[in-house]
Amino acid sequence: MNARTARALQCSSLLLAVGLAATACGSSGASGSAAQDEPEFTGRGPITYVAGKDSTGVTKKIIDRWNTNHPKEKVTFIQLPTDPDTQRQQMIQNAQTKSDAYTVLSLDVVWTSEFAAHRWIDRLPADEFPLGKMVKPIVETGKYRGGQYAIPASSDGGMLYYRTDLLKKAGIAQPPTTWAQMKKDCAKVKKLPGAKGMSCYAGQFHKYEGLTVNFAEAVHSAGGEILDAHGKPHVDTSKARKGLDFLAASVKDKTIPKEATTYQEEDARRAFQKGELIFARNWPYMYSLVEKSKSETSGKFAVAPLPGLNATGTSSLGGHDLALSSFAKNKATAIDFMKFYTSEANARLALKDGSLAPPYAKLYDDKALVKKYPYLPTLKRSILHAQPRPRVVQYGDATAAIQREAYAAMTGNKSSKQALRDLQKSLRDAVAQ
Ligand code: GLC
Repeated sequence: MNARTARALQCSSLLLAVGLAATACGSSGASGSAAQDEPEFTGRGPITYVAGKDSTGVTKKIIDRWNTNHPKEKVTFIQLPTDPDTQRQQMIQNAQTKSDAYTVLSLDVVWTSEFAAHRWIDRLPADEFPLGKMVKPIVETGKYRGGQYAIPASSDGGMLYYRTDLLKKAGIAQPPTTWAQMKKDCAKVKKLPGAKGMSCYAGQFHKYEGLTVNFAEAVHSAGGEILDAHGKPHVDTSKARKGLDFLAASVKDKTIPKEATTYQEEDARRAFQKGELIFARNWPYMYSLVEKSKSETSGKFAVAPLPGLNATGTSSLGGHDLALSSFAKNKATAIDFMKFYTSEANARLALKDGSLAPPYAKLYDDKALVKKYPYLPTLKRSILHAQPRPRVVQYGDATAAIQREAYAAMTGNKSSKQALRDLQKSLRDAVAQ
């Protein structure tokens, strides 16, 4: 008997015996009225796992391991495109038609509120997952109104990748902590004969979710905010403008090469790997791919915290959590698979094979792991200091507005001032819905 069944039995006998109020017997981890929303998870058999492109190969490995041991409860991997906006749209379409084609969803951390509020995903039995061993802000990403709707599989924090060989040759002892320093360092490096034609910096500036990430980082790293502490839009400020100005002015003065306005994560990785960039902003997954690439960059790079306006910058909190589609079949199998996927053993595998950020706190302080994966302390810092993107039910509208305005400013079609004024208005409309 699992903890859940035991609790249900205990509760029903208590209720029969003394007529206790039903609320006293909500599932643990649940708070208030949402407790009764936690559904029954029954049915065993084949299920599907739906996620974006498996660029590190880790997902396939985890699923293969599960399938070997569960021949009657096989998981089929439905691989969606790399672009998170397309993933979100396909998952929403599946939910809106109440289709049972998708069982376990790999949700970007920013979609939890939207999916939970629409009841496209089930409230989960939090106490059946080792959430207490995970880093708190990572666990928070799976919560909505006190309930746990998604379980962290991997986290993500942005880092500044830099060429150790070139900085050294240019006489630069430390990676930059501010944008101004980064520009100065680039000017020095570019004078080296080996740095001909290189660009200074790129992140993800194509008009998609990655731009929302990079825009939020620029704004937060300049001391600004997108929503205030009460969840109200507060982006039409001079601090936020300094953040957006950094991005827009950097395209103009070619610190950021023009082609980077078409870059997603993989484009930035390839450019850095090919030796086209001195500095690049990316997630930890890039570390192992560049290291394994046997390119001219492998063995010649390291990571540092993202730079900011006056001091070290602030990353956006990224990552993926597993959720269960409300319309799925075989939910008992799904819950077991989610437990397996999000286990510490698989977090270790994802760290080893794909340099993915583990949700488990202790892995960041494990001396043997830190020796093997020297980026871990920087990653820990990035995640612990990260700021979430707007946590709103209308996330689709909010991110579309951010992408539109940030892109207009970066491509020189609007001043930062105007872009932020327009963004403030669009966010107000989105939040008010
Ligand atoms: C990574 C992050 C995710 C983010 C996306 C943007 O996958 O984990 O949170 O939204 O990149 O491209």
